[in-house]
Amino acid sequence: MGEFKKALNVEYLKPGEIVKVDIGSTAVLIGNVDGEFYAVSNICPHSARPILEHKSSMHDNQVKCPHHGSIFDMATGDLVRGLATECLTKYAVRVDGGSVLVDVDAS
Ligand code: FES
Repeated sequence: MGEFKKALNVEYLKPGEIVKVDIGSTAVLIGNVDGEFYAVSNICPHSARPILEHKSSMHDNQVKCPHHGSIFDMATGDLVRGLATECLTKYAVRVDGGSVLVDVDAS
């Protein structure tokens, strides 16, 4: 178990939005899925490339890798379909007051 670190303010991310945030040296995707915050790795397991550079919108609470189109469930990190054969690593998230905190050492 590591340490929860502040990733962003709650109001920064509306339902249906995702953003890439660097937490230490770990690139994390944070998504607002119907008001709940989730964090997964921003590195696609298909060929270890970053999925998102900034902020974007989700379709059906899923995130699509721009390189070869693998699609992942933002809430679980599960692979929905595509060339990847593994899921995205999921990280522990906590909301404390107006802040979204992520622990990149815990899932
Ligand atoms: S790098 Fe993501 S699908 Fe190929």
